[in-house]
This record gives sequence, structure tokens and C-alpha cells, in this order.
Amino acid sequence: MDRVIRKGNKLKGETIPPPDKSISHRAIMFASLAKGNSKIKNFLWAKDPISSLNAMKSLGVDIEVAGTDEIVVYGKGLHSLKEPDDIIDCGNSGTTIRLLSGILAGQPFLSILTGDESLRQRPMKRIIKPLSIMGADILGRKENSLPPLVIKGGSLKGINYEMPIASAQVKSCILLAGLYAEGETKLVEPHRSRDHTEKMLKSMGADIDINGNIVKITTQRKELNPFEITVPGDFSSAAFFIAGATLLKDSEVIIRNVCLNETRTGFLDVLNRMGGNIEILDQRTQAGEPVGDLRVTSSQGLRSVIVEGDIIPRLIDEFPILCILATQAEGKTVIKDAKDLRAKESDRIRAMTRELKKLRISIEEFEDGVEIHGPCKIKANEVYSYKDHRIAMSLSIAGLLAEGETKIIDADCVDISFPEFYSILENLQN
Ligand code: S3P
Repeated sequence: MDRVIRKGNKLKGETIPPPDKSISHRAIMFASLAKGNSKIKNFLWAKDPISSLNAMKSLGVDIEVAGTDEIVVYGKGLHSLKEPDDIIDCGNSGTTIRLLSGILAGQPFLSILTGDESLRQRPMKRIIKPLSIMGADILGRKENSLPPLVIKGGSLKGINYEMPIASAQVKSCILLAGLYAEGETKLVEPHRSRDHTEKMLKSMGADIDINGNIVKITTQRKELNPFEITVPGDFSSAAFFIAGATLLKDSEVIIRNVCLNETRTGFLDVLNRMGGNIEILDQRTQAGEPVGDLRVTSSQGLRSVIVEGDIIPRLIDEFPILCILATQAEGKTVIKDAKDLRAKESDRIRAMTRELKKLRISIEEFEDGVEIHGPCKIKANEVYSYKDHRIAMSLSIAGLLAEGETKIIDADCVDISFPEFYSILENLQN
């Protein structure tokens, strides 16, 4: 489905972002490995986490949706999963296929994992290699590099592994396999990526040790404890409204209940450097994560920035919306060291470059990032989402700034992480 966006007014009012996607995936998967009943409130009912929920059901886990907003997972323990009687479809979700592969590598049965057209093009060597070193029997298409993946799980041994790229999905995959592996598994990341897996496994009683970008986990001999969790709001979804309120004149938006885990909030740091106006109103802890309400008002003028190095994994999903902010910043914004963006739901470097050029934005593509020369006058046009939820939402915010009507082709992919995106955006404009 396509979507037409017209030049927008200010954003005003209050909103709550959808529940965090990364935490929702992990809650459903980890509760399935615990011994006892876990309760998950405020689960993200969007396509990606639903892929994880269905995958765990197909592995024999009893999951009940109780009432309007509570999931009960009847965990039977680390060794209770059953061989699925069909291929598991992970849809569009990299988190589902990569985390699940780590779990399945330790199970004494055969599983086959696949996904949609986009997922079947996403690199899997990054998990196949370490899992194979641990002793897993795992095969993929195109010389073991792409899904479908065939996993014959079994006994594993711990590894000492230096990860070539910072990736929470790869790190989590190896840590989950590490629960089942003999001895210690030690990981070193080049930069620190999001740490929801480490936090949750630790709270469940896993023997996990975190020291900066080094994580160690040892064989899980005792069962993992069940838990109750209320998933906090997703910072990556909130980022679209943060950007919208920053860019549209006379805006003031309060965004409540946002997870502010520091491995996720690099975008806030960058926006502050650019001249954004964001206030954190009430910081508290929920589900072991820092959570707060954000007050965002229009910027009086944005400055260009250079974004590189350690901060990249802390804003990896915010690259598309950061590009939109950069179009209105005075000077040359450079985003680099971000080559892995080419391996997301779409090649996000190419997708943003192509589509922003259609909107007459001065953007140049590099192997590991982009350069944007602002401020630009945005001209409405027809643009394509590449069926990538974050590209669709970012182009929609650009459309609010453009003179004329911007048509976004295949905009319904927002369902992957944020089904209510367009209705909330409309409400904030009224
Ligand atoms: C995620 C990790 C990131 C991120 C993705 C979700 C996660 O991917 O881009 O949207 O939940 O672990 P990588 O680990 O591939 O960087």
C-alpha cells in the first residue's frame, strides 16, 4: 500500500511509542527457555516480534495471550524445546533468525529457518562461522552465507571469539549458544552494541559477566528463572517523532515511557550536538532498563555534524532519520564507519541516497556512509520504501517538510515495527 504525505504543520501533543522491538523478541524467546511461567506485558504486536512468538510456538512452547495485554509463557526449561515439524518462517526479522539460530545450535534436533525476500539476502556467515567453531552443524544457501539455514544442533563447546563487526544480533546468537556450550564463551566486540540480551539473561540467573565490550558466559547448569516484564517504549520508533518535532516549526511533543538504554541513544547525543531541544523529564527504571519521558521542541537552527566510530552501533537503526535531520542542518554532515547499514532490511545507504536525491537533496554515497549538504529545500516526489519500515517512516518525515505531495510506495511495511505510525503522526498534527 502506498501513502501520500502532504506538507505538515507543527507536531503538538503527547504520545507513547510502541513497545521496544528488541526487548519484545528477547522476552518471548528467553521466557521460552526459562523453567516456570513468565508474564510479558506491553509486548510489541508487530510483524517482527510476532515472527519470534510463532517460532517459539512451533518449537513446542506453550504461549497464551491472556486478556488484552498479557502474554503468559509456560516455560519448561532449557532442554524442553521440540523439533519443529515444518520450516520456521522468520519473516523480515533478522533478530528472529540470528538469535534463534544460537538457541537451535544447542538443541538435539533438526531445524530449518527461512524468511522473506529481504531476509533471504541478509548475511548469515557472521553467525554460521562462530556457531560452526562451537561445534554446530549449520548450513546455508550460497556457500553457507544466506538463509534458508539448516541447523542440526547438538553438543557445543565454548569459544573465545573476536567479533569482526559490532552486532547485537551476532553477540546474542553466540551468547545463547554459550548457554548450552561446555565451558566458557568469551566475546570481544570492536564497539559496544545494544546489551538487552546480557541484562535479561543476567536477571534470569545466567552466569554472564559484562566488562565494556567484552562479555563472558558459562554453561547454564541450573535452569533460568522465569520473569515478569512490562516492555518499555522503543527509542528507535520515538526517534521519528523526535525528528519531526525538531524539524517542524512551533512543535512541542511529549513522548512518554521511552527506553533510554545508553547503547541505544546515540541519536540523542548527536541531535544535542546538532542543536536539537530535547529534555528528559522523568528518568526511572523499568524492566531493568532506564526509561524516561522526552519533551522535544523545534530547533532554532541545526548544525551539521560528523558521526563516526564508537557511536555508530548506538544509533545504527536511526541512520535513515538522521539523514532527514541532516538535510536541514547548516553545512556538511558526514556519517561514516557504517558499512553494515548495507546489510539491513534494505541497503540503507543506497536506499536513502537514491530516494533523497529524488527529493532534490544534496547527498553523496560512500561505501561506509553518506555526506549531506544542508540546508536543502525538499521537493515532493514519488519515493520508494524498499519495503523497509525505517526507510518508509523516515521518508514520511521528509514528506512533511516537502513542498507538495510526497508519495511513498509500499509504505505499509511500517507494520514490521510500528503499525500505528501513521495514525499517531496524524494525531500529533491535529
Ligand atoms: C538488533 C540489533 C541490530 C539492529 C536491529 C535489532 C537486535 O542489528 O539493527 O534492528 O535486536 O539485536 P545488528 O546486530 O545486525 O547490528
